[in-house]
Amino acid sequence: MTDGMNARELFQSHSSLTYDDIIILPGYIDFGAQDVQLQTKITREIELAAPLCSSPMDTVTETEMAVNLALLGGIGFIHYNNTIEQQSRMVRRVKRFENGFITEPVVLSPAHSIHDVDEIRSKNGFSGIPITEDGTLNTKLVGIVTNRDVDFEQDRSTLLRDVMTTSLITAPKGVTLRDANQMLRESKRGKLPIIDENGHLAALVSRTDIMKNREFPDASKSVDKQLMVGAALSTRPEDRERLEALVEAGVDVIVIDSAQGHSVYQVEMLRYIKETYPDLQVIAGNVVTQNQCAALIQAGADGIRVGMGPGSICTTQETMAVGRGQAAAVYHCSQHCREQGVPVIADGGVRDIGHIVKALSMGASAVMMGLMFSGSSETPGEYFYQNGVRLKRYRGMASIEAMDAGGGKRYFAEDEPVRVAQGVSGMVMDKGSIRNLVPYLCQGLKHAFQDIGVKNLETLHTILNSGDLCFETRTQSAQQEGGVHDMYSYEKPALGTRERVE
Ligand code: IMP
Repeated sequence: MTDGMNARELFQSHSSLTYDDIIILPGYIDFGAQDVQLQTKITREIELAAPLCSSPMDTVTETEMAVNLALLGGIGFIHYNNTIEQQSRMVRRVKRFENGFITEPVVLSPAHSIHDVDEIRSKNGFSGIPITEDGTLNTKLVGIVTNRDVDFEQDRSTLLRDVMTTSLITAPKGVTLRDANQMLRESKRGKLPIIDENGHLAALVSRTDIMKNREFPDASKSVDKQLMVGAALSTRPEDRERLEALVEAGVDVIVIDSAQGHSVYQVEMLRYIKETYPDLQVIAGNVVTQNQCAALIQAGADGIRVGMGPGSICTTQETMAVGRGQAAAVYHCSQHCREQGVPVIADGGVRDIGHIVKALSMGASAVMMGLMFSGSSETPGEYFYQNGVRLKRYRGMASIEAMDAGGGKRYFAEDEPVRVAQGVSGMVMDKGSIRNLVPYLCQGLKHAFQDIGVKNLETLHTILNSGDLCFETRTQSAQQEGGVHDMYSYEKPALGTRERVE
């Protein structure tokens, strides 16, 4: 029986369809949501357990986001609105991350005073601070200062050498987290310093963190067992130096970050990267047509990033009149990329789980999100209150504000005397931690796959291309009907704070 349209029929009118214009017709369920696997590939070589990437934006992805998203099975792309040193340091910190180990602890020297401890405590809330000979990680550990050492000391100018604990219980570098936790329990101490062969502090394990530590079976890891991380580059020739530093820092995948990816600059950068580092995975973009995909794949792209204009902070389609409805862009690009064996990342315009489902059903292998992760505790920036609501800033990389900080590189606009913004800056509500949000998204995706009747992405793409996956377009009233309506009042909890059954 034929009911609904297959994707070819859906897109043959060449309407610039968006996710909201489409609905997927249900399939047959003969398995549980727990049987669904979300494994995917974001490039020819890189596999992830969850099809989720965070945008290389300066209000979205730095070390914290990249570490936590990788732990949860996705991957973060560190932005380049910073110096080469800052960006490569962030990459290095993700690569060095070890779950449960604080690898760059704050340290002081014996010549610091209790006052310095107070300052660190008020800023970071730590209770135990390791003391090294010169207050850096490059000299020997000589003591530790805990609350017990300083709380009753009246004179806050007292030097730490006079109050620090010097009888230390330490563990050697290489100790497992399980053994470290055991030692903490037995010693009844709050902190366990991990020491390398020179007596230098390599890491710290904290008792308060033990409670928070859990296993991350889905973590995205490279062959060296370190977390995977991506980083953004512009197409400018001087970013070759940035590339070298990122490779040195251990980056797993580069995204060439350009609003319109079909340019001589991108093709040259792509060729350069693949010639210089043939094993490095490179995602090229952004594109919305098959011609654009073909050019970038020919130049060596291992993944294609699709989207021009769907971003929540984006005014590209309004100002430039160039772009494409995101559902149409993802479908048409995926059709070409699939033939070439290159995964597509659908970038921008994702506001809820349903949009992720639709992106994957159009042929994408993963989504990239800025808005969804913005306002979470893992994003850069401080929270503030407005009218009693806890907020964080979120801005487009082509907003005037971000361009002033260096973000114009993405839009060929950096050196222009008159700059036309293609993005806005604003605020979003606190979404809590992505440690709650990402499992919630993944669970939602599993239920959606179950409704469609597929156990994994491979099957979803197979039925998309065989014509067995059926769709309909949604009229304005269908969209109204599909949302909450006719309630006197109701509450829709923010995404990150929705209840989740463990
Ligand atoms: P969102 O998830 O809908 O907020 O979209 C995020 C995506 O928007 C990013 O991954 C970029 O591709 C894109 N983007 C970032 N900054 C800008 C901008 O200033 N203008 C247009 N698009 C942007």
